[in-house]
Amino acid sequence: MQEWEAPLMRRSAELLCREGGTYLECGLGFGLSALAIARQPKTERHTVVEAYDEVIKEFKKATPDLPGNMEIVHADFFEYIESIPTDSVDGIMFDPWLPREIRDDADWWVRLIKEQITRVLKPGGYFMSFFVTEPTIDPRWEPHFDQVLIERHAFEGYATTSYLMGKLSGAAYLQCYINNAKN
Ligand SMILES: C[S@@+](CC[C@H](N)C(=O)[O-])C[C@H]1O[C@@H](n2cnc3c(N)ncnc32)[C@H](O)[C@@H]1O
Repeated sequence: MQEWEAPLMRRSAELLCREGGTYLECGLGFGLSALAIARQPKTERHTVVEAYDEVIKEFKKATPDLPGNMEIVHADFFEYIESIPTDSVDGIMFDPWLPREIRDDADWWVRLIKEQITRVLKPGGYFMSFFVTEPTIDPRWEPHFDQVLIERHAFEGYATTSYLMGKLSGAAYLQCYINNAKN
């Protein structure tokens, strides 16, 4: 997570929260998206789940006054989501940085999205994926949702941004998937 991503995080929050309600987020990081979600005018409650205590401590040091509707849970998101009731969340922000063995495990993604993400979302709920730099609908999410809103933003990364794989500027695509009739 780097400073050039901040506008993308804030805009992701606006897209996710346009209908209002209760939100769940995977990964605190610097808390930019989490704070933006909690501060959206129609957000009732936002729970952000972070696996690393250090990340939470750093965030709390930098942000002593948390919005009253925001809760930080120290847990593995993928375990925590199993405890969330079915049809209870209006939107999910999903922006973890996962190890390669998980990123490449197609069965793991299918289980996550079928058994957890779409289960906890209310009908009509929104799923905001991490942004991508190619204009493609993510094949992991596509079979499980019936609408997707894609918004294009110019970006300029830093020479040190290793995860851009050498493509340091261009277009970033925010992707918000919508779950009307649950599959
Ligand atoms: C890219 S950062 C999130 C950036 C955040 N959206 C922001 O605006 O600053 C990813 C975060 O996900 C956390 N994370 C990775 N795996 C996780 C897991 N299994 N459960 C909870 N948090 C996780 C990382 O520790 C990191 O803080």
